[in-house]
Amino acid sequence: MLIGVPAETTAGETRVAVTPETAKKLVALGHVVRVQSGAGLTAAATDAAYQAAGAEITDAAGAFGAEIVLKVRSPFDNEIAHMKPGTAVVGMLNPFDAAGLQRLAAANLTAFALEAAPRTTRAQSMDVLSSQANIAGYKAVMTAADKYQRFFPMLMTAAGTVKAARVVILGVGVAGLQAIATAKRLGAVIEASDVRPSVKEQVESLGAKFIDVPYETAEEKEAAEGVGGYARPMPPSWLARQQVEVAKRVAAADVVISTALIPGRAAPTLITEDMVKSMKPGSVIVDIAAGRGADGVGGNCTISEADKTVLKHGVTIVGETNLPALVAADASSLYARNVLDFLKLVLPKEGGFKIDLEDDIVAACLVARDGQVTRK
Ligand code: NAI
Repeated sequence: MLIGVPAETTAGETRVAVTPETAKKLVALGHVVRVQSGAGLTAAATDAAYQAAGAEITDAAGAFGAEIVLKVRSPFDNEIAHMKPGTAVVGMLNPFDAAGLQRLAAANLTAFALEAAPRTTRAQSMDVLSSQANIAGYKAVMTAADKYQRFFPMLMTAAGTVKAARVVILGVGVAGLQAIATAKRLGAVIEASDVRPSVKEQVESLGAKFIDVPYETAEEKEAAEGVGGYARPMPPSWLARQQVEVAKRVAAADVVISTALIPGRAAPTLITEDMVKSMKPGSVIVDIAAGRGADGVGGNCTISEADKTVLKHGVTIVGETNLPALVAADASSLYARNVLDFLKLVLPKEGGFKIDLEDDIVAACLVARDGQVTRK
């Protein structure tokens, strides 16, 4: 098959969907790989490295003109215009963006949104949410450490003792767990909160303290079990009690990293403006959910601003919405391997392109085909 790899044009997007490593594997499988000139530069992959891997260098029209187009982000209209009807496009196409999927369907593309893959053992090697959230959790702590004007570890020096930073992590999915692990390596004292009781053990095994908010009703307990490993919206009664507990920890914290998300919904509000006011001057909040609050305003923190770092009430609030793009080389390496593993499901060894709807991963990721949005 002819596989195209365009350069990403979304603002701030530095990742690339195919690295020289995965290009080499695709070429070895008998495919022709055409990479837009410069597509990998921000992720430390030069045109020469792609050529050495057996790929051809082309322009945007050449990359979008392939039979299969591998992307990081959903293509824009001017990019879709380069794509022939029936072209397959694979990427993080945002399966909850109904209008976006409609655009792909209207162009008669066969579109696969990798974020829609089920959270099963077989799908793990192509789980883009995990591979990228892991990086976001790491970079959130690195960013916080950079903005925080004190040390993370406790230090005993001849000039006196420095206290360890108190870090609070809100939401302990893939990003939150990596944030705990990273902050721990830097020597911070960590507390973490999540709606799902199953994470308590994971939090403690990483050496952090779990902020316990007991469930008082059957409804609260049932909601906390979540669905398919994901959180569900919690009843207001539990959220109110969680807010009280979290508020105490946030007031005492030096750094807060918030990662709480519920798929397909606005991010839950966990840090109000009053809570920010209660924090010590010089504290730092990194809101991974920035821009995903109700109506796109705020995130887990009501006053975070998407893609901006702001100083409010003496607290630095980082609203970076694409933390993985700040670790572009490794983020691309992991993402490209996810893409390669997914491709193995639709590119059978005997050749051609096959959509097997009996395969739960293929069926879940297929979001548009034959002019129709197929997302369930
Ligand atoms: P996510 O990015 O959708 O959400 C992040 C975290 O926020 C979740 O832990 C969620 O419970 C939490 N959250 C939501 N509302 C909250 C609130 N009001 N207060 C505090 N926390 C709140 O989740 P992610 O990282 O995608 O992972 C979801 C689950 O899926 C995890 O348990 C993870 O271990 C599991 N998973 C399973 C995989 C597999 O079996 N193959 C692969 C990857 C993840």
